[in-house]
Order: sequence, then structure tokens, then C-alpha cells
Amino acid sequence: MRRPDDILGYSGIVYCLMKLFAVSDLHVDYRENLNWIRSLSREDYQEDVLLLAGDVTDDLRLLGSTLRALKSCFSEVLFVPGNHELWIDDGVFSCSLEKFDAVMSLCSLEGIRTSVYRQGCVSIVPLLSWYDFSFGQPDAFLQRAWRDFRACRWPAELDSQAKICDFFLRQNDRYLSTYNTHVISFSHFLPRLDVMPAAIPKHRRRVYPVLGSARLDHQIRELQPAIHVYGHSHVNQTIEIDGISYMNNAFATPKEERIARKELVCIFNTEAVPSFLAGENRRESA
Ligand SMILES: [Fe+2]
Ligand SMILES: [Fe+2]
Repeated sequence: MRRPDDILGYSGIVYCLMKLFAVSDLHVDYRENLNWIRSLSREDYQEDVLLLAGDVTDDLRLLGSTLRALKSCFSEVLFVPGNHELWIDDGVFSCSLEKFDAVMSLCSLEGIRTSVYRQGCVSIVPLLSWYDFSFGQPDAFLQRAWRDFRACRWPAELDSQAKICDFFLRQNDRYLSTYNTHVISFSHFLPRLDVMPAAIPKHRRRVYPVLGSARLDHQIRELQPAIHVYGHSHVNQTIEIDGISYMNNAFATPKEERIARKELVCIFNTEAVPSFLAGENRRESA
């Protein structure tokens, strides 16, 4: 049986054993997606960590039961809210920031981690974000069709998407000096547009302005993780750019079968990392 805690090796270097799985955009409002959560093994992942990159549901009660179910499967679950979590058009909350606070409190209540998690030689860094139109300006169609513009409401001082984005990015500052042998970060939103496959048809690119923020990537460049997991686009992808592997494993909606794998993906396994890398800081060797 693997020990969940650190193991002190002969050289005095602290090792750890960790398997890290990632998924985003569970959208459990769809019955099929909720059934998939319910079908997950309660035994297979008990020593593993799940990284959940937002868009579980806008329904707070359903979010709570889903997080509880996932926590019963994994040793640790780490989460960042997506845009769906901040919808308030059901009339329960008066402001999306009030809902954000409620989501974070719910996570704390259910034992879901929303801050940096360190286990031995691995540190996982959640990065909050939004979109700021740095990927382009929305056209009239997107202005009309994008539900966030109706379903989210913000305090008067956050009167632009750039200010909303800035509000969330500022909360990441405290994590940007996280330092370890293996640093892995995740966000709901996209940090750069060139992670999107070139094959995306032109009419589908209308959503690009609301996919993320280039300023998020500035933070990621400062952090220098080996892997950054993102959600939101619903287009499964792994691409290495300037030494960082950007990965998307969105579960997505039932109709999006062609662009989503619909399975848990193990994105990192310390047992598969060559032993000579243990204890060697990636940032020093870069
Ligand atoms: Fe989504
Ligand atoms: Fe999203």
C-alpha cells in the first residue's frame, strides 16, 4: 500500500507518491453527466488527488452534493469556480461576488481545497480568473447570446469585464512565488488563445473573446509550472508552449462527444517521474 505522506529517501531528499487526475466542466445539470459521477469507483482513487477546473453547476445544492461525492472518491479534491458557478439568475443571490463567497464557503465546508496544496515534492496552485476581452472584442451576436452577460451581476465598481478579471487575478498574487520540485497550476479560463486547435471553424471562434485572459498567462509565466490545466473551452487538448504543458480535459455537455474524452485523465504520477528528477528544482534547471 502506498503511503499518502512524504517519504524521506536515503539522500535526505523528500519524495512523495502522488497520482493527480484532472477534469473540468462536469455540468452535472445534465443527467448523463451526474450519472457518470455516481459511477466513479469509491475504491480506485482513494490515495489520489483530483483537480476540478470549474463549471460543475450553477445550482449550489447540486454543487455541494457533487463535491461531496467526489471527495468520497479521492484523498483530496482541488477546485476553482467557473463562470457557471457565478450565475445568479435564480434570484437567490443579489451579486455574483456574493455567490462566489458562498461557493468558496461551501468548498471549505465539504473539505474541498481552493488554495495551494503541497504534498512533498508536488505543489498544486489554483488560479482564479475571468475574461477581459484580451482575446478579442465580442460581436453583436455574442453580446446577445452569452449567458454570463445576463446571469452574472457585479458590484458597481466592477463595471467592465477587465475589472472583474482584475479582481480575480489579484487574488492569485500570493501564490505566484510557489516553489517546489513539481509545480502544477490550474484555472477555469484559458490563459492564451493559441491553445485552441487551428481546426476550430470560423463561426465557432465568435466565443473567443469570452474564453480567458492573456494576463492570466503572465501570472503562469511568473509561476513557471510544468503543467497548467484549464477548462471552459470544452475542447480537449494538450499542447506544450515554451516549456509549459497546457491541458484541457473538459467533460462537457452530452452533445460534445467529439471534442471531449469523457473520462478522468491522470495528468501527473510521481511514480512515473524519473528518480533523478526528484529533488531537482525545475526552475533552477530551466
Ligand atoms: Fe463549461
Ligand atoms: Fe466555463
